[in-house]
Amino acid sequence: MWTIMQNRIQELIETLGLQPHPEGGYFAETYRAPQWINTENGNRSLATSIFFLLTSENISRFHQIKSDELWFYHEGSPLTVHVLSENGYKKLLVGPASGSGHFPQQMVPSGVIFGSTVDEPDSYSLVSCVVAPGFDFQDFKMFGEAALLELFPEEKAIIARMS
Ligand code: GUN
Repeated sequence: MWTIMQNRIQELIETLGLQPHPEGGYFAETYRAPQWINTENGNRSLATSIFFLLTSENISRFHQIKSDELWFYHEGSPLTVHVLSENGYKKLLVGPASGSGHFPQQMVPSGVIFGSTVDEPDSYSLVSCVVAPGFDFQDFKMFGEAALLELFPEEKAIIARMS
């Protein structure tokens, strides 16, 4: 079963031209709006879109960006997005619509700290992420375990799992 999955993961990496992402997982930018806007962080494209692929063997580590991020489910198992914010810790499930909280579209607000996992064993998840204003690595910040523990001392369990 895992071999079939690995073949599909390899096929997705090749056919979608995915590259390793610094936060973990694989991505490819599919769209960058040709219009530009002036934000408080500098000039940014109006919007960008990526494919993002994560497997159950990997983690997308905690990071932060300066735009709201819309997530869209495509295939595989649900993706769990772990969100740390002033409201504490919560999970968003990006996956086939179900009564148990999975939703094919999720929104992660700008400024929160988030990472993701695929919680079903021997599996993967393919999603898209759209951000407006568009993505710029200048707006991207990764967080180590010590910094996260200082910000969220009550969330030791998830911080340890994701580090
Ligand atoms: N482009 C490159 N990296 C990213 C990312 O982490 N999120 C989004 N939305 N776009 C990106």
